[in-house]
Amino acid sequence: MEEFYQKDSVLRHKSHMGIAHTRWATHGKVTRNNTHPMMSQDKAFAVVHNGIISNYRTLKSQLEKEGVRFLSETDTEVVPHLLQKFYKQTKNVEKAFVKTLSMLEGTYAVVMITQYHPDTIFCARKESPLMLGIGDEIKYVGSDFNAFIDHTKNAVIIDDEEYAILTRDRYVVKNFLTGEEIVKPITRIEWDSETSKKGGYPHYMLKEIYEQPQTILNALEVDEKALDDVAEFMTKRNTYLVGVGTTFYVAKYAKYIFARLAGRYFSSISSDEFIALSPVDRDSLVLAISQSGETYDTITALKHAQSKGAKTAAIVNVIGSTLSRMVDRVILQGSGPEICVISTKAALAQMVILTTLAMRLALKTRKMTRKQYNEALATLHEMPEIIGNVLNERSGFIHRIANQYKNIKHWLYLGRGMYYPVALESALKMKEVAYIHAEGMPGGFLKHGTLAMIDSDIYSIVFMPPATEKELYESTLSSVAEIRARSGFVLGIHFDERGKNRDLFSEELILPSVPPLAAPLLQLILAQLFAYFTATSLKRNVDKPRSLAKSVTVG
Ligand code: F6R
Repeated sequence: MEEFYQKDSVLRHKSHMGIAHTRWATHGKVTRNNTHPMMSQDKAFAVVHNGIISNYRTLKSQLEKEGVRFLSETDTEVVPHLLQKFYKQTKNVEKAFVKTLSMLEGTYAVVMITQYHPDTIFCARKESPLMLGIGDEIKYVGSDFNAFIDHTKNAVIIDDEEYAILTRDRYVVKNFLTGEEIVKPITRIEWDSETSKKGGYPHYMLKEIYEQPQTILNALEVDEKALDDVAEFMTKRNTYLVGVGTTFYVAKYAKYIFARLAGRYFSSISSDEFIALSPVDRDSLVLAISQSGETYDTITALKHAQSKGAKTAAIVNVIGSTLSRMVDRVILQGSGPEICVISTKAALAQMVILTTLAMRLALKTRKMTRKQYNEALATLHEMPEIIGNVLNERSGFIHRIANQYKNIKHWLYLGRGMYYPVALESALKMKEVAYIHAEGMPGGFLKHGTLAMIDSDIYSIVFMPPATEKELYESTLSSVAEIRARSGFVLGIHFDERGKNRDLFSEELILPSVPPLAAPLLQLILAQLFAYFTATSLKRNVDKPRSLAKSVTVG
């Protein structure tokens, strides 16, 4: 703050305090003017903001009438201008801050600095994540622990309608509706800060794919009581599985697992469609799945469920996140920080946890004997070693084919049964990291229309179940035959069936035989790797793909 100077056309800045935003504004184009921080006209206040100020148009036109000239298209810019206005009236920064907050509608985590208190940071939260990092002689503010986990493991989670004032040595938290000071507990983040680093991998995505054997071990160690509490809710209630994007596909996968292992049908609903679809009431349970625990759509779905008297539960990775604190029962998945914007290891862990949850439910309702339960558990415990070996042995081949087929513009990803959500999730990986069109579809859909477009230009990936799943295997194979009969290309991801039907595929990725419970998960990991290598071959920004944020905290 004290000293600005221009060097090599970069604005450099020497200070003991600063604020910044790591992603682009929700409003306006990708331009320098729309970049945070936003400044007041007199440059006395600087603000960064995550969320959406829903009444910014009204506030903006009011301020414009009062002579304020806006420089950006963002909703955020109203905040520093309001601060300037109220500071003029009150001559007190804290009062001006609280008054400004009272004018804002929508969702926000805002952080502000001002020349009037050059050693202080002000921040506030309403429905967007915000936390403080408490070091001895340094304080941090961030939306996520990962912003400061390298420097301190002590965090204070700010709740809705709270604001905090921080200096190097101290901090205070208050409620901005009542003005009351709040004594907040310190949450200790036990995540190892080493796991937040790349550890020799070129990208976090690759590192996190390779971490999956360990992620599964962690998933198998989640608190049994937490699982049983949720299973208990499920025995008596209509259960809805909700998530969005990847976690919706995880929910879809879980639907097959609950049907297969526990003989129960639960609907899976994308969080953003939940309010329109679900007739929830006091007899319902809504189980949300979320890596960040801060996803706006999922939080909104749960709030709706709670307003109807439904019970809620969540499988969440981030400790202390909004979702983990708002539900009746929480299962912390313990996957450690997932830094890459694309979800890989967290999704796999959720699938494993949902499998063990289905097993606990089956045990409770006597759909499974203790012996069957122990066998299924043993299968899951074998997975880390199998996955580790397969990653080492097959990555070279996947790298080669990804490079060879990187210019294919359209992929069809096909699977049946539990392989269908695996196909959907694998296709999403390809879309979001490589920016290539990939459509996930159940194999059975082909003959209901899609076959019309199959020719030698259409490339498909087919997720083959093990041949021991006879019916599923045969029906998936018939989808392959339908495509090949029309000269379509098929990359088959299949298990070692001693040469059986191999001549059907154009290219094949052969996996060692594994039990049915492990098979779809193993295939998903290879599809993640295929998307990763395709993206790196195309020189995409793998860890920060365009148009996706790690936690989508806006609606
Ligand atoms: C995909 C991806 C998104 C998220 C979705 C939900 O790789 O990252 O589709 O899965 O935004 O996020 P969480 O799990 O944080 O609720």
